[in-house]
Amino acid sequence: MYVCVCHAVTDHQIREAAQGGARTLRDLRRELGVTSDCGLCASCAHKCLREANGEQCKTGKALRKAA
Ligand code: FES
Repeated sequence: MYVCVCHAVTDHQIREAAQGGARTLRDLRRELGVTSDCGLCASCAHKCLREANGEQCKTGKALRKAA
């Protein structure tokens, strides 16, 4: 789904950016342009980023427990 209409950025792209190391909205703005025009996407982009980073943390914990 599109998160940022101004820059045609999808939730998939935000998850990819998170996997690439994006941790903040500022990181997303720099990489994808999110929130750099009207700013209406900020809340949804932040939620997507948090969810993406949370999934990575769960995976990391699961991997550490398995090791
Ligand atoms: S919807 Fe993202 S800057 Fe406008």
